Amino acid sequence: MYGLDILYKEHKNILNFTNILEERLVKILEGDEVDTEFLKRGIYFIRNYADTHHHQKEEDILFKKMIEELGPLAEKLIRSGMLVEHDLARFPTGELEKAVLAFEENPSTKNKLDILAHGMNYVYLLRRHATKEDEVLYPFADKNLSEEMKEIINKETKEYEERDKDFSQIEEFFI
Ligand SMILES: [Fe+2]
Ligand SMILES: [Fe+2]
Repeated sequence: MYGLDILYKEHKNILNFTNILEERLVKILEGDEVDTEFLKRGIYFIRNYADTHHHQKEEDILFKKMIEELGPLAEKLIRSGMLVEHDLARFPTGELEKAVLAFEENPSTKNKLDILAHGMNYVYLLRRHATKEDEVLYPFADKNLSEEMKEIINKETKEYEERDKDFSQIEEFFI
């Protein structure tokens, strides 16, 4: 199903990014310089690709249609699970940004620790979230949505990808 294939592909890109971020954070712990420009590009990727292009699309298309057609179980899974987790991931992103800016002002060990802690918090949250969607939510949607609704989701996803070309064509996190 096209609409789900796009979301699965985006998870691969996002999870690939979490691996790269984790590698960089480990290197910092091992003594490498803190590359604040890399971290700022990472925050840009999180906000514009993971949170806007991907999460927004899930919310506007798939989640909406699942709630419409699949009733209370889908609604519970989405409202108290997925939407809460989309929001939860915004906290470490904002804190990571603050830590990067603080480190540029004052490259202290405490500011470095904040970068490592908030960066890894984001990595853990997103891995858990994307895995839950890959293994539970998307298969549930694929199994239970009607063929008509799947067609609507495919069509709306296609239109969304056309509108958001700058991000729909990203194949991996750009370094
Ligand atoms: Fe999500
Ligand atoms: Fe997702």
